[in-house]
Amino acid sequence: MNKDLVSRISISLPTLLLQRFDEHSQRLNYANRSKAIQDAMQHLISESKWLCEQQGTGVGAITMVYDHHVTQLDNILTDVQHRFHDVICSSMHIHLDDNNCLEIIAIRGPAKNIRDLATSLQTQKGVKQLKLTIITP
Ligand code: NI
Repeated sequence: MNKDLVSRISISLPTLLLQRFDEHSQRLNYANRSKAIQDAMQHLISESKWLCEQQGTGVGAITMVYDHHVTQLDNILTDVQHRFHDVICSSMHIHLDDNNCLEIIAIRGPAKNIRDLATSLQTQKGVKQLKLTIITP
């Protein structure tokens, strides 16, 4: 990466997320917010890189937390899962509290389909966190 080139951007974030991010990055002794955000972006790239390049078949699980008060989100997430029924082995739904649902989806199938399923879920408004774990048996 060319360190001489710096881009300045303006982004919109949920206030609470930014507050939590700042608290956490201060605990990790980041000198400033820019450096912490750069590292978070690098993490995103490295975590998703293998998935974008992966060939063959994968086995694992998708774990996600979402806000079930977001309009139509339950239906949208169900529709997405029906579209990818061929890679979903099983799923478990847990009502965490008044607002949040935890869903654990066991998956097995072509890497491309797993990637498409994970991104189709992750990009929905109201999905707060999604982790994809692939096991190599
Ligand atoms: Ni629920």
